[in-house]
Amino acid sequence: MGSLGHANPSFPVLDDTRPDDRSLPAFMVSTTRGFLPRMDPIETLPPDFDVLESILQRMPVKTLSGEPGLLAHGKLGETVAKELPDLTDAVEKYKDDLPLMNALYRDYSFLASAYLLEPCHERFVRGEGYGLARDVLPANIARPIAKCAALCNFKPFMEYAGSYALFNYRLADPSQGLASHNLRLIRAFERGLDPASSEAGFVLVHIEMVKHSGPLVAGAVACIDACSSRHHSSAAPSPRARLNEALRTVLGALQKVNATMETMWSRSRPTEYTSFRTFIFGITSQSMFPRGVLYEGVFSSDSEGESGKSGNENGQRVSFRGESGANDSMIPLVDNLLTVPMPDTPLTEILRDFRSYRPGEHRRFLEWVGRAAEEGGLKSWALGLEGSEEENEDDHQDEKRETRALWIKVLDQVRDFRWRHWCFAREYILKRTSHPTATGGSPIVTWLPNQLAAVMDEMTRLYGAVGEKEGEGLGSEVEAIMDLVGRQREMLRKEVRKFCEERGVEGAVPV
Ligand code: HEM
Repeated sequence: MGSLGHANPSFPVLDDTRPDDRSLPAFMVSTTRGFLPRMDPIETLPPDFDVLESILQRMPVKTLSGEPGLLAHGKLGETVAKELPDLTDAVEKYKDDLPLMNALYRDYSFLASAYLLEPCHERFVRGEGYGLARDVLPANIARPIAKCAALCNFKPFMEYAGSYALFNYRLADPSQGLASHNLRLIRAFERGLDPASSEAGFVLVHIEMVKHSGPLVAGAVACIDACSSRHHSSAAPSPRARLNEALRTVLGALQKVNATMETMWSRSRPTEYTSFRTFIFGITSQSMFPRGVLYEGVFSSDSEGESGKSGNENGQRVSFRGESGANDSMIPLVDNLLTVPMPDTPLTEILRDFRSYRPGEHRRFLEWVGRAAEEGGLKSWALGLEGSEEENEDDHQDEKRETRALWIKVLDQVRDFRWRHWCFAREYILKRTSHPTATGGSPIVTWLPNQLAAVMDEMTRLYGAVGEKEGEGLGSEVEAIMDLVGRQREMLRKEVRKFCEERGVEGAVPV
């Protein structure tokens, strides 16, 4: 396994993702593909799964040929009952091929979500509320999904990385790689097999953003490395010079991520989001699943338990959060690297709960970065905060001023991401539906502002602490950033208050 030769060796970040190695999980962390899977996702299943493949191809509201599919006619439930055998033994046969297990996990999770939420989709297109979903997952879906999810270390329900988004693309022409025009979805619920559709645009923009995460990973590791070598490195470039270079790398990657995010407005129309969104809701905190879901043939009292379960007389009913970009790893990586404090609210508890819906290696990497930054004192060293050993250091004043400016600029990219995100929530969701919870089960009005306000407050606090320390300040660019932060903070406060009043949301409003 490759590791960063120059970096803290305690976390195995790959340089070479070994795309042909089927013994490693599909999702690891690399300096080249960042948080994307090690290889392009597997598209074709072995012939043992031909029936599954056939159902999935016939499933979307609009199939690849353009004909209406099973979900357009409300026929998925009966097709699953009539045609699909329990293929758990076939899953077992391929269990050592982890990327294939990931592909099967993706495919069964698409089928599970479509099966459970089909009745809600039917009501939604008739202009009614979602009503109740199916709350029993039959054994021919429940047993194989439980098996391949366990082998890949996912929950047995659709997740963002392992299934819906990051393991769900194919290259129209393999020689053209990950170019935007060359990406297609493998699976879709609604019209997503058409690359010009809003469903495809929504998913593909996520993938195209994560495409830029390699330098983000490399930059983050290099920040940790510079910090941990600060006491015993006399070689040039100095640890602070290396830190600044690493922060520039992080900044450059985030700028690309944010520029790609901005393309969402044209690639996925705000008016069309709610029609494919029905299928990506989770079970946790959703009115469609008041009693959770019974997975037939699994989670019975004599089988292994799962987090999120809640017992009932007929066996174990379980509950999982739905897929959500909240399980993406890029922004949490920067939160951890810069040790951004989150408020002590129930909303932050949800942020923590989302952590368990990431691929194992992503989760471990984020934990490692958070711990290394905190225990190594990265923030106070970098910024020369009160009490740090560099507070009174005379050397490197220009370099230290540059670190401070870069730190604020990186935070500003996180703010930019979260602000745009709040605008997405407003335009794609809040203006179109009164359903109170997002697909991941967080409260739709207050949750995103909880983190957006936290990052703006951190910027204000740090700028207050270090912005004016030297006579020259941190430059006009940072001043303009902080001006904007002041104005946006006030706008956010007003908007959240307005939506809370309109929707009768009470309780802790974070802003
Ligand atoms: C139309 C576009 C989008 C909409 C409507 C949207 C909606 C949401 C909502 C409602 C949440 C709250 C969590 C939950 O699901 O319960 C969320 C969280 C999140 N989403 Fe999105 N999202 C969009 C695009 C994206 C994209 C392209 C990314 C890129 C990776 C992304 C990444 C995230 C992240 C990181 C969070 C957690 C935010 C935080 O920590 O403050 N989202 N999203």
